[in-house]
Amino acid sequence: MNQAELKYREATPEDIKDIMFIEDNSFEQGIREEEDVFLERIITFPNGFLLLEYKNKVIGYICSEIWEYQENIDLLDLKLGHSIKTIHDPAGEELYISSMGVLPEFRRKGLGELMFESLSNKLLKTYPKIKSILLIVSKNWLSAQRIYRKNGFREVATIPNFFQPLNLEHQDGIVMRSRVR
Ligand SMILES: CC(C)(COP(=O)(O)OP(=O)(O)OC[C@H]1O[C@@H](n2cnc3c(N)ncnc32)[C@H](O)[C@@H]1OP(=O)(O)O)[C@@H](O)C(=O)NCCC(=O)NCCS
Repeated sequence: MNQAELKYREATPEDIKDIMFIEDNSFEQGIREEEDVFLERIITFPNGFLLLEYKNKVIGYICSEIWEYQENIDLLDLKLGHSIKTIHDPAGEELYISSMGVLPEFRRKGLGELMFESLSNKLLKTYPKIKSILLIVSKNWLSAQRIYRKNGFREVATIPNFFQPLNLEHQDGIVMRSRVR
């Protein structure tokens, strides 16, 4: 893979088809976000929605929100399909990573981790008040968990059966947090 052909950029509403293609190839039916949810994220916080391109083709996405910091997280805030508009606060102290995905043929090359680091470094610089990063991951998503643990995330809660894919076994959600300053 020619590293010089890799590029990051902010998402725009015109990218929605590419984002949905990655979503459909990354998550099972029943736990995918809807198009409208992604569009609202792009419009509300374009700075927090990054795409990774290889040879000008979109191969990955990562998106985020900024929340007011709460030591004890309201588990309802983590729900799939929640509206970014009602919770996003650029003056907040917590960065919430709402999702990320890389097309299957581009996985296990370090790109997921690069994408994660690129977004968090950029936002930590732009929003100096952020002191913590939060996310929820299925107990089955081992690659994602490995990236987060390597980057200092620790488990803070488990939500039984949080992920409920269609016609498949439910999966516990692991809430992870990293204190960044
Ligand atoms: C999670 C996800 C985005 C990670 O993307 P990725 O590009 O594969 O991530 P990385 O390559 O940085 O790291 C993943 C794995 O590749 C390994 N790896 C990194 N560089 C590598 C290389 N050059 N050669 C081989 N393996 C490598 C990592 O050690 C890690 O190992 P693991 O799979 O055994 O845990 C991707 O797997 C994905 O889209 N999964 C489905 C959706 C998902 O789970 N999203 C997370 C939501 S919280």
